[in-house]
Amino acid sequence: MMVSALPTQGYSVAIGWRRAAAPTRGAYGLCRRVIPKAAAAAGGGGSIEMMAVDVPQPLGSVDSQLDIVSQGGLSLPAESLARQVFDTRCEQAVNEQINVEYNVSYAYHALYAYFSRDNVALPGLAAYFKDASVEEREHAEKLMDYQAMRGGKVVLQSIMLPQLDFNHPEKGDALYAMELTLALEKLTNEKLLQLHSVADDCGDASMCDFVEGEFLAEQVEAVNEVARKVAQLRRVGLGHGVWAWDQELLEAVTEA
Ligand SMILES: [Fe+2]
Ligand SMILES: [Fe+2]
Repeated sequence: MMVSALPTQGYSVAIGWRRAAAPTRGAYGLCRRVIPKAAAAAGGGGSIEMMAVDVPQPLGSVDSQLDIVSQGGLSLPAESLARQVFDTRCEQAVNEQINVEYNVSYAYHALYAYFSRDNVALPGLAAYFKDASVEEREHAEKLMDYQAMRGGKVVLQSIMLPQLDFNHPEKGDALYAMELTLALEKLTNEKLLQLHSVADDCGDASMCDFVEGEFLAEQVEAVNEVARKVAQLRRVGLGHGVWAWDQELLEAVTEA
């Protein structure tokens, strides 16, 4: 406690901080310990006087937070205890994005099933869409984890029935499927940007950081990667070119 000892005429004065007595939590006062010099020489403690001073209290508002989190005693809380400055608009937007990711995952699963058919038999595209479907579901789970962490409630919605056949009379199935994928990834990017702007409008810096760090950069890369595949498939045309391209894709997916 002791900060310094100041000699005065016949006394030593020790000054330091001492926590004030209850009931004021967190309040501190300036203590002055007055010690007769004779007593100080003999090692005596002297008496303590309290002086009221204005002291910054950075944790002073913890009392109001404690009042909130301690409500309900031992009963199981009906609402989240962790929730803090998490707007219901953000909660709803996260649930909408979970639904987007599930819908895209389902569409990719349908593409996996299509390219696995014996009369289609493009194993590279089948493997690619199988992985892509899992990845989109992982995106949904990442959003679910974030929702839970912020104290929001995950509300799952229904998933659209996906397209089942992907053969296009002029483009063939591989190019058509990859153009559809590009459209889906660009749509997902738009939805992520909307999610970010909801967080921004609500002044939710944590959610902005989450969407930027976990989704936005990766999504831009995904769009670029699929766009390259569309360009390559336009070069190879139909028939054997698609078969050779698919074999290369199979190798890349298997190595990854
Ligand atoms: Fe995604
Ligand atoms: Fe994606």
